[in-house]
Amino acid sequence: MGSGIAEVLARSALDVLVVERDQEALDAGRQRVLTSLAKARATGKISEDDSRRALDRLSFSIDIGDLRDYPFIIEAVAEDHAVKLDVFRRLDEVLVDGGAIMASNTSSIPIAALAAATSRPENVIGLHFFNPVPVMKLVEITPSLLTSDETLATARRLAGERLAKTPITSPDRAGFVVNALLIPYLLSAIRMFEAGVATAEDIDTGMTLGCAHPMGPLALTDLIGLDTTAAVAESLYAEFRESHFATPPLLSRMIAAGQLGRKSGQGFYSYRR
Ligand code: 3HC
Repeated sequence: MGSGIAEVLARSALDVLVVERDQEALDAGRQRVLTSLAKARATGKISEDDSRRALDRLSFSIDIGDLRDYPFIIEAVAEDHAVKLDVFRRLDEVLVDGGAIMASNTSSIPIAALAAATSRPENVIGLHFFNPVPVMKLVEITPSLLTSDETLATARRLAGERLAKTPITSPDRAGFVVNALLIPYLLSAIRMFEAGVATAEDIDTGMTLGCAHPMGPLALTDLIGLDTTAAVAESLYAEFRESHFATPPLLSRMIAAGQLGRKSGQGFYSYRR
């Protein structure tokens, strides 16, 4: 999602520095932006000139220290508690501006926990985008108990005015609003498939044609990533201990087998050419 967020920011005339963990991730991220912009051009969503200008506003680095002078950071690393806490600790060390805002694209990890890893919890907020970021209009904004009103107002202005998304305010509880509803639905579809009740195609066709969803739950799980879906489910289960948040065995086995969805070329469907 990081590449989608970077693309949307750059297309909104903001200078963006993308920091990746290594050169391989950096190359892959840059390629995702190029591919997405090409699609936006091909479908008439952006002109050649605007696309070039957006690219010019994007720079890339593998050194988190290069973020030191930026006023607004959006973290979009793996949905893993320890990894995110580490990033927030390191950001707190490098940021020079005491007012710099540290936002997280997490969908399930408590914002209060991320805030507590820094020396400026009032500047930490949740800013949760949806996949694919250039297409989806929603942003969930989640202040923690410690977030200042000023940070909340700045985040709302960025999402709602500058990026022209529709922000909703979500509570600081696992899954916020959308994933607390979406994840049990996806897990139910996986359980239905695992039980042999229907084929993947029939489950998905049922929901696309029967309920006018743009894609079915198994195709959507492939898009989100099976690992990300399981990570969000685990956070929800840890918080609420409700069985509809429990990870179905098939999901765990597919992840163990490296079948992570679109990004790995295989999930409930095959994406290999
Ligand atoms: N910039 C701007 N627009 C773009 C674009 C880009 N980079 N790439 C594609 N588009 C536009 C296309 O022009 C097209 O616009 P149109 O509707 O006006 O013609 C539209 O996006 C759809 O593109 P495509 O025709 O290529 O693709 P599909 O019609 O097959 O739609 C989809 C693909 C947008 C993924 C659609 O199936 C969909 O909306 N699926 C549901 C996605 C969803 O539910 N996402 C949320 C996941 S949950 C999440 O992210 C939270 C996390 O925490 C788990």
